[in-house]
Amino acid sequence: MHKFPVRILSIETSCDETAVSLLEFKTEKNFKILGNALYSQIEKHKEFGGVFPMLAKREHGKNLVPLLIKVLQDSQLYNEKNSEIDEDEINKQLDREPELLEQFIKEIPKIDRPKIDAIAVTEGPGLEPALWVGINFAKALSVTWNIPIIPINHMEGHIISALIKSNTDGSFNLNEIEFPALSLLISGGHTQLVLVKNIGDYQIVGDTRDDAIGEAFDKVARILGLPYPGGPEISRLAQSARDKNLDTSKYKLPRPMINSNDFDFSFSGIKTAVLYMTKKIGNLTDEIKESIAKEFEDAVTEVLIKKITVAISKYNIKTLITGGGVIANRYIKEKINELVKIKSIFPSHELSTDNSIMIGVAGFIRFEEKIINTSDFKASGNLRLDLK
Ligand code: KG4
Ligand code: ZN
Repeated sequence: MHKFPVRILSIETSCDETAVSLLEFKTEKNFKILGNALYSQIEKHKEFGGVFPMLAKREHGKNLVPLLIKVLQDSQLYNEKNSEIDEDEINKQLDREPELLEQFIKEIPKIDRPKIDAIAVTEGPGLEPALWVGINFAKALSVTWNIPIIPINHMEGHIISALIKSNTDGSFNLNEIEFPALSLLISGGHTQLVLVKNIGDYQIVGDTRDDAIGEAFDKVARILGLPYPGGPEISRLAQSARDKNLDTSKYKLPRPMINSNDFDFSFSGIKTAVLYMTKKIGNLTDEIKESIAKEFEDAVTEVLIKKITVAISKYNIKTLITGGGVIANRYIKEKINELVKIKSIFPSHELSTDNSIMIGVAGFIRFEEKIINTSDFKASGNLRLDLK
């Protein structure tokens, strides 16, 4: 048992969102968000039609110090004081992030050591150059303020995000669920089915063999001439096709691996099928685009539902937890609610995309178990959820 309140500073930089938050736990199950700042780089990556890792790295480097200052101010933990920092050490720590280094040396010595118990930072999976920025920043803060670091698996964050429920007094609770649970993680970077025997006890039972589901949405959108991120665009066109009751039977797409005897996914074949189809058609009218978008959404939804249903029965699952940015897709969510017969939970909209609140909560849970690692750990682009 430790002394409440417990304050966790959390940092997330695994992809194209730079996020920092400060959570205060009053009890094991109740916390407040003292500060939360998120900068989405989506606009910056638009011209590349996807996330460009070196740009993400540079943007994280630019944004972390201002976001931290904002979070400390919002948390009433920004107190001015001329503090000493070990410049040689910080130079070493941040030598690959020149903009971050410059801001760190300028701003951090002005801040009195805030009363924070631990720094939770995303260790992986994600884009390694992007992950490194958050990790190096956390290490530099850890050295300066003598605060332990808790490395967090981003995917565990996504799972835990579904357990966070807001209360009317502005605080949040961590909900209890029945185990075993099945977690479906669907985003621009991942498509994973995870058997959750308990929080902290995970087994990946299915994964994508090629593109992640969000990536497939983005690529198909690009083929149809729609802007990035493509998920919301495809979803809008598909809905329009449904509203108009368009006959889409001419635009049949495959349902890859729907009957395979495992829980793996493959989405690149659908994308290639769309590419050939559109080449053959030539001129894409709005109605053709709407029809293809609907057929694509139907195809991926059917595959997801089939795999979930079989996994629920095979593992005797009690709760389905769905997380990740693609759950913003109304049709997929609707079909899960309609067709999955067990209790099904989702994170709130703000917590379904990448954020640092889920990293902070995961950090608190890890802190409870005293799995604290202040020593040197590395960014791990392919970090698995089921390796201890
Ligand atoms: O979780 P997220 O914000 O970032 C990653 O960790 O990847 O997910 C972003 C992905 C993008 O591929 C985007 O196209 C997709 O989520 N997405 C959607 C929708 N809204 C966002 N996909 C399908 N339908 C949507 N409505
Ligand atoms: Zn994510």
